[in-house]
Amino acid sequence: MATNHQIKIITEDAQSVEFDCSSDEDIISAAIRQNIFLMSSCREGGCATCKGECTVGDYEMGKVSSQALPSEEQEEDLVLLCRCYPIDNMEVEVPYTFDRIAYSEEGKQFTTKITELEELSCNVVKLCLQRSDGEKTIKLDSGQFYDLEIPGTTITRSYSPANIANNKGELEFLIRVLDDGKFSGFLKNEAKVGQSLNVTGPSGIFGLVADGFTPRYFVAGGTGLAPILSMVRFMKEWGEPQPCVIYFGSTFEKEIFYLDELKALEAEMDNLTIKICVWKASDSWEGEKGSVVDILKQDLKNISSKPDLYLCGPPGMVDATYTVCEEVGISKDKIYLEKFLPSAS
Ligand SMILES: Cc1cc2nc3c(=O)[nH]c(=O)nc-3n(C[C@H](O)[C@H](O)[C@H](O)COP(=O)(O)OP(=O)(O)OC[C@H]3O[C@@H](n4cnc5c(N)ncnc54)[C@H](O)[C@@H]3O)c2cc1C
Ligand code: FES
Repeated sequence: MATNHQIKIITEDAQSVEFDCSSDEDIISAAIRQNIFLMSSCREGGCATCKGECTVGDYEMGKVSSQALPSEEQEEDLVLLCRCYPIDNMEVEVPYTFDRIAYSEEGKQFTTKITELEELSCNVVKLCLQRSDGEKTIKLDSGQFYDLEIPGTTITRSYSPANIANNKGELEFLIRVLDDGKFSGFLKNEAKVGQSLNVTGPSGIFGLVADGFTPRYFVAGGTGLAPILSMVRFMKEWGEPQPCVIYFGSTFEKEIFYLDELKALEAEMDNLTIKICVWKASDSWEGEKGSVVDILKQDLKNISSKPDLYLCGPPGMVDATYTVCEEVGISKDKIYLEKFLPSAS
């Protein structure tokens, strides 16, 4: 028989929220039932947005993706709250501040229209949206993401905009198109300018961290460039002075996109350097030759004051870069990352 337990969620700024959760209910759903919207996205154990650390109590974990919650993290009592079922009263620490918890979804879901759809490279599409619900505000902390719904379905996918918060209602996404992907299929075969799209968000905790004048190194693999661009565009908008470098990596030259946008940004910001790294570059390639991980490692070895690192892209690239950062003596708390994990489906 199901029993009821008390759940206490403790945020990074030492505030807390409490609610009850039945033993046959996951913690995210129990919180929503009580109008408490904790950080979550896929609600299927696939994206890691709802990750926390259980410090008190016991629980059972349902099925989760091993990329979202590797076994070593499970052993350290990290949990995905959307697949976590209490068998005891629990306390869970989450890596975000109290103001990221919402008490209604009002304003989080809105309708948009597609205003631009452009092929940027052999496998990347730019998708621009405009709010069509009469509102003009795009609330966004650069680095966060939105969930986009495939029209006529309830299927959603997470995407991080490359733009910054604005009062024009505009969103700009950079999306990798997969051969057999659901959202990819929609973009390739059905999407057209003027079409309506439901959007929910923003969500997520990836973003710029105040750390004095410490330099910021940004490492982007493929469409991982999107949230990185949003952060650097934010720095430009607000005149943030930290020296920064964007390492933008791909395997082949044909996969590189946004060269003009990146060059323009570099020309406009005195404190920005951009390194485009192509792993399997042709002889005529004029940018950096080699994997983004190797080029970053070389640069990190040659500098005395260690930067903060912001990593975003496919899990393999992010994990390899993380390892390199640790090897050259950058402590874990200086590395901020977002993995573009596949949907749980
Ligand atoms: C927080 C967050 C932010 C994200 N932001 C972006 C973004 O800005 N731009 C972007 O392009 N993507 C982003 N993603 C990934 C995105 O949400 C989708 O997972 C991806 O676009 C695939 O969706 P799909 O419906 O086309 O494919 P699906 O139908 O989900 O998958 C089809 C097949 O492809 C596999 N697959 C899915 N993703 C990958 C992958 N990355 N590498 C290899 N195989 C894969 C699946 O396992 C499945 O077999 C983000 C993911 C997260 C969690
Ligand atoms: S919301 Fe829990 S893993 Fe995605």
